[in-house]
Amino acid sequence: TGIVHVVGARPNFVKAAPVVSALRGRGAHQSVVHTGQHYDDRMSAVFFRDLNLPTPDVDLGVGSGSHATQTAALMVGLEKEFTARRPGMVVVYGDVNSTVAAALVAAKLGIPVAHVEAGLRSFDNTMPEEINRRVTDQLSDLCFATSPEAVGHLAAEGVASDRVHLVGNPMIDTLLGNLDRFDAEALRTRLGLPERYVAATLHRPANVDDPDNVARLTARLHEIAELADVVMPVHPRGKAAFDRAGLGDHPRVRLLEPLGYLDFVALTRGAAAVVTDSGGVQEETTILGIPCLTLRPNTERPVTITHGTNQLVTEADLIQAVTKVLHGQTPERIGDDVPPLWDGRSGERIASVLTQWSR
Ligand code: UD1
Ligand code: UDP
Repeated sequence: TGIVHVVGARPNFVKAAPVVSALRGRGAHQSVVHTGQHYDDRMSAVFFRDLNLPTPDVDLGVGSGSHATQTAALMVGLEKEFTARRPGMVVVYGDVNSTVAAALVAAKLGIPVAHVEAGLRSFDNTMPEEINRRVTDQLSDLCFATSPEAVGHLAAEGVASDRVHLVGNPMIDTLLGNLDRFDAEALRTRLGLPERYVAATLHRPANVDDPDNVARLTARLHEIAELADVVMPVHPRGKAAFDRAGLGDHPRVRLLEPLGYLDFVALTRGAAAVVTDSGGVQEETTILGIPCLTLRPNTERPVTITHGTNQLVTEADLIQAVTKVLHGQTPERIGDDVPPLWDGRSGERIASVLTQWSR
């Protein structure tokens, strides 16, 4: 009985925090299952500390592997867990392998599934996340969407409208709820960072898995460093390849370990611009008003372009785009300032639907 939240990777923790907190406020019976997909302190435990998330009731310790190996291990672990706990509802977040594995296992055990951040589509099946999102949404009894586009995608795929709730963005709840804890100045002093810098974060397989591509991106990041210092917390996925390519050899490139949530958003807040391929960072920069250059051919988060500070760039036009942004030329925003319902109350909306549903 009760609600079981399944989380496993860095962005999951940021999205789950406001939902868990809102349900706690309503006295709901809930538990948190950590799959262990991410396990380094800086990829996992630091988020529980920063976000005041309850220590997971269990950590399945699944760890890394190929997609099949990891997803299979996730499913075996989660099946045992769900069979023992018999949850009334399983809540999954985002688009990582832990998300789809939990949805599959719950659906086959006849346990209702709720998907937080449903309906995002890049229409690019070379991204593992796109496959995870599509499958998860088809299996979910409740789809919580962050944007009107997402609602449209679900409708187009035949998801019944009574399963879909437009609730805004819980990742933005976490951002707004912690605004006074992101101290860019203090971080700069503590880490000895320069006054003006471009923050970078890259971890998508399409960017970091191929060593030749990493060498090309390293050359571009070195060119950016001629314009402004570059500060990059390096995701473990690309670390070896960027080290081999000599990214840190440039005197104006500063490589860091992955940062905790409060430090990373402080870094973003203090940046002249952000270069990224992260999903969440496109959304956070939208609200913080920091120019975001997304090194990808597409985005499943188009509201960050229409309502935010985001632009898609290729490796070939990256330098020109950074130059423009550093000269204060940012693209005009179309429409409202921020996407609808990105107001810090999504966790409450989700909790309200979940408690009514499980009654
Ligand atoms: C995963 C998600 C991706 C998400 C990202 C967030 C999938 C398919 N991908 O990608 O959507 O954007 O998390 O950060 O679920 N590793 C460590 N320490 C850790 C975790 C991973 O060193 O704590 C290394 C391992 O070498 C591992 C590699 O990172 O093989 C990739 O980890 P994995 O969880 O498979 O995928 P991510 O690239 O992190
Ligand atoms: N983040 C962080 N430390 C870092 C990089 C990112 O705390 O070094 C945060 C970021 O602010 C956002 C989330 O992690 O809240 C995004 O996760 P990530 O980029 O790993 O995954 P994606 O959103 O692309 O799935």
